[in-house]
Amino acid sequence: MKYLVLLIALSVSGVALADGGMDILQKRCVSCHDLSGPAAQSVQELWQRKGPDLFYAGSKYNAEWLEKWLVKPRRIRPAGHHSIQHIKPGDKRDMIDATTLRPHMALSPSDAEEVTEALMKLKATAEMMGTTVFKGGSISTSFGEMVFDKFNGCMACHEIEPGFGGLSGPEVYTAAKRYQADYLVSFITNPQAWNPKTPMPNKHVSAPNIQKIVQYLQALARENRDEKK
Ligand code: HEC
Ligand code: HEC
Repeated sequence: MKYLVLLIALSVSGVALADGGMDILQKRCVSCHDLSGPAAQSVQELWQRKGPDLFYAGSKYNAEWLEKWLVKPRRIRPAGHHSIQHIKPGDKRDMIDATTLRPHMALSPSDAEEVTEALMKLKATAEMMGTTVFKGGSISTSFGEMVFDKFNGCMACHEIEPGFGGLSGPEVYTAAKRYQADYLVSFITNPQAWNPKTPMPNKHVSAPNIQKIVQYLQALARENRDEKK
């Protein structure tokens, strides 16, 4: 009988430990982040989601970056999530209304570890991933910039260094730190497979140029501009 009680106590605490990360996610994150999918099916539904979807986090993030960021979050989207809600008309061009942007909550190192473990278990479907993967290789930043900016116009919406580039999309100089290379290839190939209502256009970039763009994002990430800011 004593053993039985001990066994039950052990298994109950074991379950509690294993679910610690998911517990935190359900209590503190689900009000802004979707954890179960699918992606929003209408623009209205998309705008109601106050943070990026996390239901495929395990196929998207580099765990090491994720854990560090949760302890010490910094802004990734210069104009916030749903930039359209944080932009005001300026004299010459639209400006970011910084008063409407809030800092992201930070987690303790032990909570961040548990949350990262739970998030990395959430995987994308095969339809989202598609079949193209990153094939490796590298490129110089100057050639990469030509493919990214001149050939494909990606800089209109993305900063390639702090203060340089468009503001409506996430900064890309940290994208390869944050995200797995196969996710980047897949997302650029078909953003709508991940999120049918995403404002990121499908630019129909050729498969070889997508490989070059991801090599370029990796070269940018190695410059560590976020840490020098
Ligand atoms: C009040 C709403 C809100 C809450 C609560 C919240 N987040 Fe966020 N989260 C956001 C917004 C907005 C962003 C986009 C920030 C940016 O781009 O700078 C974000 C970004 C993130 C990102 C980076 C996403 C990416 O791909 O760029 C992660 C990871 C994340 N949140 C995890 C969490 C976790 C884990 C919790 C709970 C412990 C949480 N968030 C709670 C609103 C929220
Ligand atoms: C019209 C503006 C626009 C253009 C042009 C554009 N993007 Fe984006 N991009 C976005 C937005 C907005 C997002 C965020 C998508 C979301 O949250 O659903 C995004 C997301 C991304 C992401 C994921 C990054 C992240 O941090 O979540 C990558 C990588 C990316 N874009 C690369 C590119 C490349 C490569 C091109 C050129 C072929 C390009 N973008 C052109 C607006 C744009």
